[in-house]
Amino acid sequence: MSYSAKITGVGSYAPEKILTNFDLEKMMDTSDEWISTRTGIRERHIAAPEEATSDMAYHASVDALAMARLRGEDVDGILVGTVTPDMPFPSAACFLQERLGAERAAALDISAGCTGFLYALHLGASLIASGAHERLLLVGAETTSRMLDWSDRSTAVLLGDGAGAVVMERARDGDPTVYSTHIGADGRLWELLHMPAGGSRHPASADTVREHLHSFKMRGNSTFKQAVEIMEGASERALEKAGLTLDDIDVVIPHQANLRIIKALANRMEIPEEKVAVIVDRYGNTSSATCPMALADLAREGRVKRGDKILMVSFGAGLTWGAAVFGWGAETEG
Ligand code: ACO
Repeated sequence: MSYSAKITGVGSYAPEKILTNFDLEKMMDTSDEWISTRTGIRERHIAAPEEATSDMAYHASVDALAMARLRGEDVDGILVGTVTPDMPFPSAACFLQERLGAERAAALDISAGCTGFLYALHLGASLIASGAHERLLLVGAETTSRMLDWSDRSTAVLLGDGAGAVVMERARDGDPTVYSTHIGADGRLWELLHMPAGGSRHPASADTVREHLHSFKMRGNSTFKQAVEIMEGASERALEKAGLTLDDIDVVIPHQANLRIIKALANRMEIPEEKVAVIVDRYGNTSSATCPMALADLAREGRVKRGDKILMVSFGAGLTWGAAVFGWGAETEG
């Protein structure tokens, strides 16, 4: 027996503090003009000193559960896509489970870079299909500001903090469902996006701290090229698996790394601009949180209605990639 999965709730959270490009001009040798033309980013949110990843995940999850009319104790699994957990272990998912009082839920983090949330969607749909789980909380949450080298203008201006969460449940007849998911990886390209120190290869030491090795390193140009090709390929695979074409899709939610990548993808795939969700201008790149945060914004603004078909696609450190096609199953008004 195989079951279908449906999405019944979404929520997001961004910290109160906003850091604009003009604020960054005062902190480093950069300009609003450079950042907005190269990336489309105008501002990003930065976590308060006492805020960690599971705190942001908690606020997003509370909203997602409320939309699905569920409580923490109703979910039987929590998957959190993150590369910035509260601490190396235990997982951010375990802290979240405790705060939500989700006593029946198994809890784990997924490390797939910016693709963490799409990996969670794929694994969640598989857990529901197998009958092993019935109600899951899937989260993308990142405190990227804590892994940035603020003396490196080429990366510090790109990222932001935030969290997004969805509730996934076993579908009943007639519900809009998750039609397909697809994930993949190519470890040969690990060097494009990585954090060198803090793990078993280069444990934390005075040297690793002095050399800024506990921070995000990126090869920007190669990443740009890979991102567009990879997201196009992943989208095509997910559509093919769903037996749908782009004409059937109401909204496309691409990973929000950079507006030029989003536009290049839309151009290549000939997706009309009005179908493409964009939040990168307001939040920067929040890594695994971008896709669920964008979905939450669409729901809040009434831009998705029950039954709408959504294509979500992402790429990230690993390299990893993922795409999903699903119907909007919550009872929101469009
Ligand atoms: N402000 C001003 N100047 C800057 C800044 C800055 N913040 N950062 C770099 N520069 C300078 C460089 O020093 C360089 O100067 P030089 O010509 O005097 O040497 C010049 O700008 C051009 O630098 P490039 O790195 O070639 O800039 P590029 O046009 O490639 O843009 C960018 C950089 C925006 C990062 C681009 O490579 C890109 O979009 N990459 C995609 C990767 C991405 O978005 N990653 C996000 C995280 S990955 C993920 O989400 C999975």
